[in-house]
Amino acid sequence: MMKVLMVAPEVAPFVKVGGLADVVGALPKALYKRGIDVRIVCPLYGSLTPGKDWVGGETPLEVHMGPGSIFARVWETSLPDEPVPVYFIEHKGFFDRHEVYAGPWGDHVDNGERFSFLSRAAIDLCSYLDWIPDVFHCHDWATGFVPVYLNTVMRGTPFEHSASIITIHNLKFQGLFRPELLNFAGLPWDVFKTDGLECMGNVSMLKGGIYHATKVTTVSPTYAEEIQGPELGEGLNHILKFRAADLVGILNGIDAEAWDPRKDAYLPAPISPDDLSGRALSKQAVQKEMGLAVNPDIPLFATVSRLYDQKGLDLLAGIVDGLMDNMVLQLAVLGSGDKEIEGMLAAAAERHPGRVAVHFGFNEGLAHRLYGGADVFLVPSRFEPCGLTQMYSMRYGAPPLVRSTGGLVDTVEQYEEGRHKGTGFRFEEASQNALYYTIGWAVSTYYDRPEEFQQLIMNGMKQDFSWKHSADAYIELYRWSMAARDWTRAMVST
Ligand code: ADP
Ligand code: GLC
Repeated sequence: MMKVLMVAPEVAPFVKVGGLADVVGALPKALYKRGIDVRIVCPLYGSLTPGKDWVGGETPLEVHMGPGSIFARVWETSLPDEPVPVYFIEHKGFFDRHEVYAGPWGDHVDNGERFSFLSRAAIDLCSYLDWIPDVFHCHDWATGFVPVYLNTVMRGTPFEHSASIITIHNLKFQGLFRPELLNFAGLPWDVFKTDGLECMGNVSMLKGGIYHATKVTTVSPTYAEEIQGPELGEGLNHILKFRAADLVGILNGIDAEAWDPRKDAYLPAPISPDDLSGRALSKQAVQKEMGLAVNPDIPLFATVSRLYDQKGLDLLAGIVDGLMDNMVLQLAVLGSGDKEIEGMLAAAAERHPGRVAVHFGFNEGLAHRLYGGADVFLVPSRFEPCGLTQMYSMRYGAPPLVRSTGGLVDTVEQYEEGRHKGTGFRFEEASQNALYYTIGWAVSTYYDRPEEFQQLIMNGMKQDFSWKHSADAYIELYRWSMAARDWTRAMVST
């Protein structure tokens, strides 16, 4: 049986900052159903309290860091719907804080130490469990040191047979730290070079992962292409091109059980392609909850998003007045992040009470009701590695309006007037004008071509975004990486 350890800084439903958590909470379930012995390791943050049924290890886990051993406690539980083991690493000093990466004053200053510790703990956990994975599947910069350990200090141990995969969920976050981090991590200094971990005089955890992993993946085919160019390569395009033969874009799926509008407890009523009446109730609930005028006939445009430059919601904030002056629609935003973007949106909501509403903070229930109640779902991202919200919105019957970038290109098919084709509205240029006119197009489709709008809803709801295909693609990739690892070792030893 193939053994795979997912090493991740987030896992839904336990701890979630963004879509990475959804992926780590869902992909393993699909792998488990396909007969893979898959397990997950993640830190026990301050926001998490071990449940009554969690098992706390009596023997401490010894984690071999550079200056010496650091001890942690291992908690074991499993994912909600399948018996996939999830190991939480408890270490008060590193992880007992509410926020995963950043507090109110910015990034935690010891993120380098915290996530080197997670990376090394993931490997030491396997010795502790006496379970050697065939593949370590790592997620984003926070786990980038795992492949580096495997290629360096773990040589000559049972782990030298383990392959590694790093999945890039977002190339913008690279984990840059002072080079001295290597001393703490217990990594040899000869990895600190341009063809390795060095990045402008710093150590880059992500670059280390990309350089040392057996295979590199990202979360959509389009983003896999885009990151090899200067525009979206975030300074790592050269190394990604260098690794192009081992770089694969595998589209994320969605957890079809957690995101099933037919039995979603957050919705006031079920929604299915055969019965859309629940959508009107969701819309009404959202309008009440967010302080919008309760009106079933005005199109409700909504988004659920981290509020950062990436997501392009500053473009939206810049056109709110124009939209409100010239079109009849409502706007609802759920999200949090950059205070400047929050401020712009809050000011817009104040200028247009009852028509524009914003809710800052994380609210799972409201998010689900927005997917179920919006008429059009906005994702005007400047870049988007995959994006899950447009897939949720389609499944819940809200056609998305997206910029043509990354996974949005791979998941949203352009609506074509009069041809009953498409699942949403797409625009090319990341500009206020392009967004404004595309919203105008969606508004006029809603009012003037109701049958076609209905068709868009149906086309979206009938898409298959489950993990079926992508889980098979990952398994194939695991096999390739295991074969590549054997082959490389054979080359080295001859
Ligand atoms: P990213 O990972 O870049 O944030 P994704 O589209 O992949 O973007 O995933 C975002 C996930 O986070 C979705 O599950 C979305 O519903 C959720 N989400 C984002 N902001 C909020 C919020 N304020 N409240 C509830 N859920 C949110
Ligand atoms: C990242 C990306 C997002 C992607 C998610 C899950 O946070 O920004 O596009 O869907 O990871 O892979």
